[in-house]
Amino acid sequence: MELFEFMKQIVYQAGSNIRAQLNQPLLIETKSNPNDLVTNMDKETEQLLYDAIMQAYPMHHIIGEEGSGTDITSMEGTVWIIDPIDGTLNFVHQQENFAISVGVFVDGKKYAGVIYDVMRDTMYSARAGHGAYKNEEPIAPLIDSELHQSIISMNPNWLTKDYTKDIYSDIVIKARSARSYGSAALDFAYVATGKVDAYITLRLHPWDFAGGAIIAEEVGAVVTNQLNEPLDMLHANSIMVANKALHDEIYTQYLKPHSAALDSIHQERFHRR
Ligand code: IPD
Ligand code: CA
Ligand code: CA
Ligand code: CA
Repeated sequence: MELFEFMKQIVYQAGSNIRAQLNQPLLIETKSNPNDLVTNMDKETEQLLYDAIMQAYPMHHIIGEEGSGTDITSMEGTVWIIDPIDGTLNFVHQQENFAISVGVFVDGKKYAGVIYDVMRDTMYSARAGHGAYKNEEPIAPLIDSELHQSIISMNPNWLTKDYTKDIYSDIVIKARSARSYGSAALDFAYVATGKVDAYITLRLHPWDFAGGAIIAEEVGAVVTNQLNEPLDMLHANSIMVANKALHDEIYTQYLKPHSAALDSIHQERFHRR
């Protein structure tokens, strides 16, 4: 079986395993803070995917949010970047609006991305250079938009922080409206399918954006950090994803004027440069 088909197959299986256990009691633990939750299903899903990949492709490398591949420091070979449940808070509180997200890279080049909205049974997928799909339907290339007629997705927390509220509130004021979905992977899928026009957030990990970046870029979205730099798949970063014209408008008119502040946030938070 082709690797792309295998990706979708194991993600479907992992999703149906989550659905089958939805009424079972959850074991919920906290990670970095009381609102940073992880459940037995996050761990079980990562393990299930890990075991399936290792059985079929023992030479592949796997980075996962729940602990796989902490020793991986290079993108050489075939690297899977996995978020077993993206939107754990939604999973715990809503039992919907969460996704499995997988990005696969071969020698650092994007190969394919898969985002599975488990409860809607909706698979977003793209093989680099071969188009993006929502289930079996091709996703149309993105159409340019202007901010004043755009819906943007942004976590409202960033509007409450002293160090970011001045940067982001002007974007929200100018936009037609703002949304917050609680799953970065679904945010990428929604930009890719034109449900929202941009997704802007200050800190994501590679497992949050790897699959989404491949799918969004496949339909013409521009995916960078907020300094307009390319993402690297081994480090956390800020995110700015939108259709081309909107990315340009937001970056040039709203982020670039704050580049000194954003630059120091990036240096502090991401220990880069
Ligand atoms: C989180 C979600 C959320 C985003 C957070 C992520 P998780 O992922 O994608 O939308 O705002 O930054 O950590 O922990 O639910 O996989
Ligand atoms: Ca998490
Ligand atoms: Ca995540
Ligand atoms: Ca997760």
